[in-house]
Amino acid sequence: MTPPISPGVAAGAFDKRDNVVIFDTTMRDGEQSPGASMSHDEKLELAKILEEMGVDVIEAGFPIASNGDFEAVREVAKIVKNSTIAGLCRAHQVDIDRCAEALKGTQRGRIHVVIATSDLHMKHKLQMEPEAVIDVIARSVTHARNLRDDVEWSAEDATRSDRQFLRRAIETAIKAGATTINLPDTVGYTYPSEYADLFSWMTQNVEGADRVIFSTHCHNDLGLGVANSLAGVQGGARQIECAINGLGERAGNAALEEIVMALKVRADKLPYETKIDTTHITRASRYVSAITGFPVQYNKAIVGKNAFAHESGIHQDGMLKNRETYEIMTPESVGQAPSSLVMGKHSGSHAFRAKLKDLGYELGQNALKEAFGRFKDLADRKKHVYDDDIIALVDDALARGSERIRVQRLRVVAGTDGQSAELTLEVDGEVKTSEASGDGPVDAVFNAIQQIVPHDAALRLFQVHAVTEGTDAQAQVSVRLEEDGRIATGQAADTDTLTASAKAYVNALNNLMARKEKSRPDTAIASGF
Ligand code: KIV
Ligand code: ZN
Repeated sequence: MTPPISPGVAAGAFDKRDNVVIFDTTMRDGEQSPGASMSHDEKLELAKILEEMGVDVIEAGFPIASNGDFEAVREVAKIVKNSTIAGLCRAHQVDIDRCAEALKGTQRGRIHVVIATSDLHMKHKLQMEPEAVIDVIARSVTHARNLRDDVEWSAEDATRSDRQFLRRAIETAIKAGATTINLPDTVGYTYPSEYADLFSWMTQNVEGADRVIFSTHCHNDLGLGVANSLAGVQGGARQIECAINGLGERAGNAALEEIVMALKVRADKLPYETKIDTTHITRASRYVSAITGFPVQYNKAIVGKNAFAHESGIHQDGMLKNRETYEIMTPESVGQAPSSLVMGKHSGSHAFRAKLKDLGYELGQNALKEAFGRFKDLADRKKHVYDDDIIALVDDALARGSERIRVQRLRVVAGTDGQSAELTLEVDGEVKTSEASGDGPVDAVFNAIQQIVPHDAALRLFQVHAVTEGTDAQAQVSVRLEEDGRIATGQAADTDTLTASAKAYVNALNNLMARKEKSRPDTAIASGF
């Protein structure tokens, strides 16, 4: 048996004593969150953001679940050079082969095999005897290890598994060649002290424990995901699985940004380093929120709009005297520059490019030209253009993937006498116009789209938020559509709420059509492990 390589980081660079591997599962567990689907292009963009941020392992999908997931893992593995790319598999040979195929040609690819080990899951879900599960672990991990050097094995529902059985299962996986052992709190049931104890017991009692990295994976059903993950590290885990904005099944996963900042701010308590450049956190959070249409709650730790706001007079007074009175970390340390008045319509493209760089965007020549044009349009319509306006404008452009349908012109009549919309769309290069009425102006706009592009998709989410303050603020609109189990989200920003609504709906429709061409329904993912 070859000795395990250092998972998630360049071989030899990982020191178990003072490092923690950050494993991001926003694109896999996060995308399993109902309605949080991401398009192929959005996943590629997110992968670049995570790589720049210094994430060690990016779990890009579940290759057997759909062609879309397979392509995502394959393409992400092609473009990302500095992070390990993982694909999830059930303990089935076909799953593992499909994952290995998606990772072909990648130097830093990880096969992640999962099977449940709790009595409840084995009996009712797998309908397998414990001995048969042990046998499957040995065979599946051996098979994965024959295909790649970096193999993670996960014991689904580990926190509700019998300890002695779990120990045997882990030892079997290690003997078969697993290099990372993940003990998920699949249903968000454990307590910090209990989870810490699980890791400390396993690292002391499992034969071969010193040859692998133990990993946490915590769901947030009791709001303990982050606390449990940190407790796992206290107990001996050296990899944390987490997701941007805490996205994930049900109540979500432990939030990456909270874990990383807790390790950074309280290094006196947990002296373990991550490779994360924390100044990329805000950008990643905003991007994930924009492409999924999942808003970040205002008082969310680290990335909420109010996370660094000081409203009360006493606090403001303290802050003016010494920021440390009420601030345990600076907004700058998480990439939240104070929103500033940026530029007006006379600003040139050099200043615009410099501003984008400050905000963490590096656009290619064409994208920059397009974004600058849109900035000029915005500056013509809006007196003050803030950083948040620019972020919305660029994220809006990044979220637009394939564009078979484009909004050309919209005219809406609204008021006490009824509402109607006249809309012109370009569909596959052909210009089409329609006129419709509705229960309110937004309904009229969506009905007009339906007339030009008849479709069966149901509207699952329509959400508007003001990017900045003031009545001339841009409206950022998110729309989620569902058809035959496929879900697609679209978003757009504009100073005109109805134009933003039309564009967001059309964006979702474009994404839905792209999904139809590429993949099987999203529900395939939810079929269990
Ligand atoms: O929650 C869980 O158990 C999982 C596994 C696939 C790691 O997501
Ligand atoms: Zn999970």
